Amino acid sequence: MGERASRLRTAAALVYLRALHKAVASPIWVSFAGKRVVVYPRVFMPAGTASSALMAGCIRLEGWEEVLEIGCGSGALTVLLAERARRVVAVDVSRRALACTLANLASFGLLEKAEVRLGSLYSPLKPGEVFDVIVSNPPYLPTPRGEHMWGAGLGLELLRELVLGASKRLKPGGRLYTSASTLTPATLLAKVMGRAGFDVRVAGAKRTPLDTIVVLEGRLRAHT
Ligand SMILES: C[S@@+](CC[C@H](N)C(=O)[O-])C[C@H]1O[C@@H](n2cnc3c(N)ncnc32)[C@H](O)[C@@H]1O
Repeated sequence: MGERASRLRTAAALVYLRALHKAVASPIWVSFAGKRVVVYPRVFMPAGTASSALMAGCIRLEGWEEVLEIGCGSGALTVLLAERARRVVAVDVSRRALACTLANLASFGLLEKAEVRLGSLYSPLKPGEVFDVIVSNPPYLPTPRGEHMWGAGLGLELLRELVLGASKRLKPGGRLYTSASTLTPATLLAKVMGRAGFDVRVAGAKRTPLDTIVVLEGRLRAHT
């Protein structure tokens, strides 16, 4: 895709995302991966967008694994992770998102398997705390980070920090699942992951009218 086409499609994606989220003025219940979950206003909508559901279908977990989710939003994905893994730590910069995540965990009886923490990326973690799997459906559009639900920064700074941090917060052989799009572009993210010590594969992809969304699975080769 040419640079101009990519810029136009990114602008169209922003118009759609802003309108979708503006329409939610009070908590609403939506269907996500066969479950009814609540989504609060100004929290990322996991229905009507493609990335959350794609991630839900791509992540493979063992029952003994400990998972870190960066950017839990409504907690729609967190609920699935908590069902499939031993324990989940869910992080977000938004208090509202964490409240929504707690409401959804509570409605599925999963509060004991999950913990929510407020802060950016890995900052709420304890020294030396490491995980078997890190999951993030991050803000991945190449737009300013001020729009924290979808803007990764013009140079995709947030994605670079996410990947670099993951290489330090995963156990050897651990996995990072993250999403990107042809607008990101996903090929650049895959290169960033490769340089950070991950063997990368495409775990899933879905075409939308504006882009193709991909889920990348990175397996950490060794700590550097
Ligand atoms: C695209 S939404 C994904 C939400 C949810 N995981 C899902 O799949 O539906 C991205 C989330 O990342 C959060 N976020 C943005 N910047 C962050 C950061 N620096 N650290 C942690 N979370 C962040 C946003 O508040 C938002 O909830």
